[in-house]
Formats: sequence, C-alpha cells, structure tokens
Amino acid sequence: MKATAVAHPNIALVKYWGKRNVALNLPAAGSFSLTLAGLTTRTTVKFDKGFESDMVMMGERAVGGPKRDRVSRFLDRVRAAAGIQHRATVYTHNDFPTAAGVASSASGFAALAAAASRALNLDMDTQGLSVLARLGSGSAARSVYGGFVEMLPGKRQDGSDAHAVQVLPEDHWDLVCFVVLTTTGEKPMGSTEAMTSTAQTSPYYNAWVDSVPRDIGKAKMAAMKRDFRALGEVAEHSCLKFHASAIASDPGILYWRGLTVELIHHVRRLRETGIDVFFTIDAGPHVKVFCQAPSRSAVRAMLQGLEGVGQILEARPGPGVQIERPDGSLEPY
Ligand code: DP6
Repeated sequence: MKATAVAHPNIALVKYWGKRNVALNLPAAGSFSLTLAGLTTRTTVKFDKGFESDMVMMGERAVGGPKRDRVSRFLDRVRAAAGIQHRATVYTHNDFPTAAGVASSASGFAALAAAASRALNLDMDTQGLSVLARLGSGSAARSVYGGFVEMLPGKRQDGSDAHAVQVLPEDHWDLVCFVVLTTTGEKPMGSTEAMTSTAQTSPYYNAWVDSVPRDIGKAKMAAMKRDFRALGEVAEHSCLKFHASAIASDPGILYWRGLTVELIHHVRRLRETGIDVFFTIDAGPHVKVFCQAPSRSAVRAMLQGLEGVGQILEARPGPGVQIERPDGSLEPY
C-alpha cells in the first residue's frame, strides 16, 4: 500500500486557460507542452488502515489548509476507485523552488496520481492516469507523458476523453529551456481562480478559446519539422493572447512585473541579432526562454547580463511519470 513516483513539470507552448467544467477540471480547449527534465518532483504515498486522517508533507513541513484539502479531495477519488477508505501519508519533494512558477501543480499531481494509483494497485494505463492527474490539476494530465505532449479537451461530459497524448518523444529535439526568476514570493492569484474570473469577465475570453485549435496545429507541425522559428512565433503569440485575455478581466489579472516586460524586449533584441530564442510566461512573473542546444551558453550569458535577473534554472526535454523500484531505480509507469 505504498509507492513512490517521480514526475517533471511541463511548459505549455500553446496555453491552457479556461475550463468547460470546473468540477471535473475539463479544459475549454486543448494545449501543447514540453515536459522538462532537470526539475523533479518525487512523491511517496502510503495508505494505512490505522491512519486517522490524510497527512501531507512538503519537504520537511506538514501542509495544512486548502493545499492539504486539495490533496485529500484528490485521494478521495483514488480511494473511491479502489473501494477503500484508508487515509494516507503523502511525502512530496520538489528539487526546484515552488515559487518558480514552473507549474509545480503539474508535476505534483502527476506524481501523486501515479504513486497513489500504484500503491492501491489500480489497473490503469497511462491514458487513465492522465485522466486521473487532470482531476488534480489540468496541466498535470500533460506531465504523465514525456517530450512534446498534446492535451485533448474531449467532448464527453464525464471527462473520460479529456487526457493528454504524446506527440513526439523527448529525444526528438535538443531544446533548452531557461526559467528566469524575476521576483521572490508567491504569485498574487492561483491559475484556477484566475481562469474562472477570465471566463466570467473578460471580453476577450471567447476569442482566446476559439484561437487555440489553430495554434495547436501550427505548434505540432513546427515541432515535427524542428522549425524553431515557427514554434517560437506560435508560442509567443499563444502566451501573449492568454495574458491579454487575463489582463482584460474585471478586475484585471496582471502577472507581469517590470522585469518580466524587460525580458520580453531582451529576448526580441537577441532575436534581432540573429540568435534563435523565444519566450513564454505562465501565471506568474517569471519568464521561460527557449533556445536550441548549440546556442545554450550564449543565451544564458545574455540573460545573466540583464540587470535585476535572479536565479536561472535550466531544463531539457524530459520523460513522463516514472515509478521508483525498491532498489531506487526508475521504470516508466
Ligand atoms: C498558465 O493546470 O495550474 O500554466 O487546472 O486549475 O489546476 P488548474 O490549472 P493549472 O493551469 C496552468 C495554466 C498555465 C498554462 C498551461 O500550463 O497550459
């Protein structure tokens, strides 16, 4: 009744922003992402008849309040599927700063879904695991798979067809992703709440949702052909469109700080000098900058040169969720 899983965050190149069903976490449109190695979540789940309540440990600290409740509600679904009532202890550790804005909920719920379902021996393939992870967090459905991943929004009411699929494996293209930290501290509004507010109050929301399928088509084609410029164009456009729809909410949702905007200009300047780079930004102030492996050192040096830039994390395309064997080695779920 105990299992450990390892998962990586993913960065959306075509963003997910909005739900067709909030309770089941069904996305209003698809999305397209790259799973990242170099940033890792490791989660152990242990169910025991003797436990009185669920306990969640993040690193050395016990977590309470809404964060623990979210994990508990998720475990309720896994318990219901297994037909048991045992409470659980969850130990989870990120080797990257949680406030880095690299969707720790994506790797977090992917690892939790894998560890919990394996601990209870649920008979589940990766598609079923992706559906389960989605119930924890929409972006977690994508971290089940490695490399380039597409999230299918599905049509069914029960969400059984809303899951991710792998489009291209992690060794398809040697890209580098820099996560450039601009500020410290927690972001002002979580994505779940911000999506609801955008859907309810932004005049640009419907236009945003309608534009997603075409962007996914373009991004998939660019990734298949390893066309870096085409991928960068669609990724930046998707990022700016999603932020524009959030900014136009009432009250406006603005995740950017001054340095975020400086970095956008900086990346565009670099591109004008002939270096292939593009940026993307999620629901926070930090900027993710992509380049191809040969320009890695040059891009890192240029990013470090910008005044105010803090820590820079570096990641490469990575694998999907994995289960830890008793000897500590990993196997695909
Ligand atoms: C901006 O997956 O965190 O990172 O489904 O409510 O848990 P919930 O939202 P979440 O949203 C991610 C939003 C994003 C874009 C993306 O990753 O596609």
